[in-house]
Amino acid sequence: MATTLIKGGTVVTATGRSEADVLIDGETIVAVLAPGSVLLGTDLSAGVDTVIDASGKYVIPGGVDAHTHMELPFGGTAASDTFETGTRAAAWGGTTTIIDFAVQTYGQKVLDGLAAWHEKAAGNCAIDYAFHQIIGGVDDDSLAVLPTLVDEGITSFKLFMAYPGVFYSDDAQILKAMQVSAETGMLTMMHAENGPVIDVLAAQLVEKGKTDPYFHGIARAWQAEEEATHRAIMLSNLTGAPLYVVHVSAKQAVEQLAWARDNGQNVFGETCPQYLYLSLEEQLGASSEEWGAFEGSKWVCSTPLRSREEGHQHHMWQALRTNDIQMVSTDHCPFCMKGQKELGLGDFRKIPNGIGSVEHRMDLMYQGVVNGQISLERWVELTSTTPARMFGLYGKKGVIQPGADADIVVYDPNGHTSIGLGKTHHMNMDHSAWEGFEIDGHVDTVLSRGKVVVDGNQYIGSQGDGKFVKRGLSQYLI
Ligand code: URP
Ligand code: ZN
Ligand code: ZN
Ligand code: ZN
Repeated sequence: MATTLIKGGTVVTATGRSEADVLIDGETIVAVLAPGSVLLGTDLSAGVDTVIDASGKYVIPGGVDAHTHMELPFGGTAASDTFETGTRAAAWGGTTTIIDFAVQTYGQKVLDGLAAWHEKAAGNCAIDYAFHQIIGGVDDDSLAVLPTLVDEGITSFKLFMAYPGVFYSDDAQILKAMQVSAETGMLTMMHAENGPVIDVLAAQLVEKGKTDPYFHGIARAWQAEEEATHRAIMLSNLTGAPLYVVHVSAKQAVEQLAWARDNGQNVFGETCPQYLYLSLEEQLGASSEEWGAFEGSKWVCSTPLRSREEGHQHHMWQALRTNDIQMVSTDHCPFCMKGQKELGLGDFRKIPNGIGSVEHRMDLMYQGVVNGQISLERWVELTSTTPARMFGLYGKKGVIQPGADADIVVYDPNGHTSIGLGKTHHMNMDHSAWEGFEIDGHVDTVLSRGKVVVDGNQYIGSQGDGKFVKRGLSQYLI
């Protein structure tokens, strides 16, 4: 087994920072040592196979992105990143584990949906990966199969209160699935938007000729997110199911989560970089020479980007500090403009929903440290440690300690990253939702289970380095 020493850096975890060297044997961290430690009379750097100099840099646990959609069939097309391209882009950006969503749709067997996802991913990933299960058709069959997923290492499932006719579950279906969640300890993940209400509002807007991407954000009103979030919380209260609300964007939805948490419920929320940085006015309302007002389609996602005038972005940063929101994922669901987003020219309802960010999450969230919005430790907690704990990966992932997988990022706070198509961008997209973002900081070196996969500005990993990881039950519940 090859040994590696990451030397001279500042090791940062969710609980603190210290000057320390990290010793790796094969795929595993075996020691975190005081700088220049001498073990059994030998200077460690002399005895190891590889020494990585991390002087002046942060040594952090690799990012865990708990919400991605590689190759998701959606909106009459499919997300443009494959497991190969998407996980390689993730590695470039310092993410070493993704949790993607296997899909079951109405009438389909859950285990067939899961098998199809294993087939897409197996042998193709650059980094480790795990799955949640989307249950798009809650019926007797899928409810009976749900508990068996725990043995498959899939300990969470996502339901949708939005997208009637696609993934939508009504309240009766949600109640039944949550009863299984309460019995098994599986985490219920919820897309909390009132879909039937949104569909009526969207149809009324289109009828009036309001067809531009901007109106996607108007139709998907914050009231529809707040109401659905509240309903999900009450059904979780009634059943005892632990609840995790995905892609929270409205400040009113955050208030619902805070209220439920103050009541002692096992209720959690994630947000995404787009809800921290981007807005209804600036992005969904954008216009360009090439696309006119359809430029905004680059940022059509659900839940939608919210109004900056209403202050949602500011509130979301605050929620990250107060732990009303516990973690940040990307909801990476990329579509190209040509042939994909274009499907919605003349009708925003037909624009495939999703933004690609898997490569940029660590950098974008590090700006919160630079700007004084979160601490260095909180950065690691939000992007790696809590995702690992929330979804039953902690110990192996999300921490730098003996026995953990050597998934490690050497991050240079003095480096610089220019984001955009043709700059740092390895996602399979013909544009970037983050074009022009300038980042203080740079992902220098990335190790996936002890193997260097990104070295400076070079990718040196291989397709298939990443393995499927079976997850345990959530380690975050009260
Ligand atoms: O717009 C989004 N979020 N697309 C991905 C599917 C989902 O609802 O997470
Ligand atoms: Zn969703
Ligand atoms: Zn999603
Ligand atoms: Zn680079």
